This record gives sequence, C-alpha cells and structure tokens, in this order.
Amino acid sequence: MTRRAVVRGVGHYLPSRVVENAEFEKSLETSDAWIKSRSGIERRHFAADGETTSDLAAAAALNALSMAGLEANDIDAIVLATSTSDLTFPSAATMVQRKIGMTKGFAFDVQAVCAGFVFALTNANALILSGQANRVLVIGAETFSRIMDWTDRGTCVLFGDGAGALILEGAEGTGTTDDRGILSTDLNSDGQYQDILYVDGGTSTQTTGVLRMEGKEVFRHAVEKLAATAHHALEKAGLAADDVDWVVPHQANIRIIQSTAKKLGVGMDRVVVTVQDHGNTSAASIPLALSVGVANEQIKQGDLVVTEAIGGGLAWGAVVIRW
Ligand code: UT7
Repeated sequence: MTRRAVVRGVGHYLPSRVVENAEFEKSLETSDAWIKSRSGIERRHFAADGETTSDLAAAAALNALSMAGLEANDIDAIVLATSTSDLTFPSAATMVQRKIGMTKGFAFDVQAVCAGFVFALTNANALILSGQANRVLVIGAETFSRIMDWTDRGTCVLFGDGAGALILEGAEGTGTTDDRGILSTDLNSDGQYQDILYVDGGTSTQTTGVLRMEGKEVFRHAVEKLAATAHHALEKAGLAADDVDWVVPHQANIRIIQSTAKKLGVGMDRVVVTVQDHGNTSAASIPLALSVGVANEQIKQGDLVVTEAIGGGLAWGAVVIRW
C-alpha cells in the first residue's frame, strides 16, 4: 500500500470587476492589439476597494468545500500560496481559517511568487504522506492589482486578481501510476536572479512597493526551465509526455505556454488555457485553471494532469497528479 494525496474538490473565485485591455489605452501608450499579441491576455479581474487576498481565498475555499461536500472543520490544515497577503502578518491562511469558520487544525502561507501553488501542493502532499494532516485545503490567492506601477506599461497590463482552491485527502493507493493523487513533484529555485523579477518594497523600505520585471529575461528563463521541470516530474513518476491528458501551466503568457507545450511534445489541445480571461494571477493561476478546466469538463477523474510554474526568486516547479 502507498499513501497518496488525492484531489477531493476544487473551486475558484474571481472579483466581479472585469477590465478589458482597451481600458489601458486611456492612460498608457499601449493597445489591445499589442497586449493580445505579445501576451495572449484580453481581460483580467481586479478586486474591489477593500476586497483582500484572504477574501478571495476564503470564497474559493468555500466553493471547493461545497464541491467536495465537506465543511470547514473537516479540514486539518490550510496551505495558502500568496505574495500579496493582506498584512505582513499574520498569514492570509489564518485569516481564511477564521473567515470559513474553521476552528481547529493549522494554517500557514507559502511564498514562492508565481510558482507558489506548486510549492504549496508539494508541502500539502508532504503533510499528508507524513501523517501530519489527512485533509488539506491548498489555496493560491493574489491581489497583484495592489502592487502594480500603473505608469509601467511593461508590467501593469499583464496581471490580475483571483483565487483557486483544491482539497487534498489521504488515501491508500497501490503504488502504481494508475493511483489517483499526487504522483510526483519537482521544486527548484535560484536566488541569483532576484533582480529580474521582484517587488521594490518591504521591511527594507517600510513600503509595500511595486512589481519590477525585466520581461524578456524572465521569458527566456521560463521557456528554458518550465519544460525541464515538467519533464523531471514526469520522469520521477515513471511517466512520459505521451501519458499526459492535460498540462495546466502557470498562465503568464500564451507564447510561454505554447513553447513549453511544444518542448514537452504535448499538443495545445491538451493544455488548459485561461490567460486570455484572467491575465497573470501569480500563485492563483494554476488552481484557477484547474477549477475552470474541471468546470468546462476538460479535466475528468482519472486524467493525468501536469502543472508547471515559474516566478520571482527565481522559483519554479511541477506537480504530476492523477485527477
Ligand atoms: O509570472 C511570472 C513570470 N512572468 C512572466 O512569465 C512574464 C514573462 N515575460 C513576458 O511575458 C514578455 O516578455 C512581455 C509580455 C512582458 C513583453 O513581451 P516582449 O515580446 O518580450 O516585449 P518587450 O519587453 O521586448 O518589448 C517590446 C517593445 C518595447 O519597445 P521597443 O523597445 O522595442 O521600442 C517595449 O517598450 O514593446 C514595448 N512595450 C509595449 N508596447 C505597447 C512594452 N510593453 C508595452 C505595452 N504596450 N503594454
């Protein structure tokens, strides 16, 4: 018998305000055509005034609980990936714990920027395999609209707000790749690339700061590192690209998604794409895409799903899941 962390439910939440590319034409020297052709993004959601990351996360969590037919106190732990927490502390995860009415267990945040959800999934998997928790709510939630420089057309048109949540539950498998659940994980980081993607505020400046990115450099690393981590994760599980039903990539740029799929040898008909509607929602992008993929009846029970992401750090990784 092999212990597995199996997906029990998934859900998402998007703030109601939708901002089309054309809106940026009013304040910046940009165009819908440029944004669409360089990134694939057509629109994104922005949180309302006073709506916080933990609000979005709690709404996504309640949707996932409802899909799983579970209540908040059926959950043992919350692992929340974000780099836009409401406050420096406490964690957004403990705020979600309160907001969904969970009165036991434990909750903490994981910070690996856009790769946050694969890091959170890997942590949750380890909690389940080591017996420290049986049901874990894994959330990716962000309000990147709070850390934008609205005068920088190279970044502010790319990001959006949102949240997605997944419930993992321990189950006994047979130890083969036919088992449902997380089959392998692959995490990486390299701190020498801090300067190409970071927020220029924090305790060192006593400000929140805004996002700074050398897009072309990040693009270059993304194309090189994403296919490699997905490939490593598949190899660890004893699987190959041909076995994959769905690639669910971090949704930063359609051109990165396409070239990663090509490098992996997976056709775009087997890739879940939401970047056109959500923009880059950082750690929320993969759980949002998973939830949309399930709602659209693309991802079905038994499908082999590979998620991969890269972000500030640089940090990158992949997770292989039998849905
Ligand atoms: O989620 C974390 C990881 N982040 C990413 O994966 C993002 C990775 N990077 C990218 O997605 C792309 O590099 C961008 C979408 C950010 C930029 O696309 P690009 O094809 O690399 O364009 P570029 O930065 O080389 O800019 C090309 C031109 C420049 O003008 P010049 O220097 O050629 O005259 C920019 O100034 O496009 C200009 N430009 C814009 N033009 C209109 C940059 N932003 C805009 C804009 N509208 N919003």
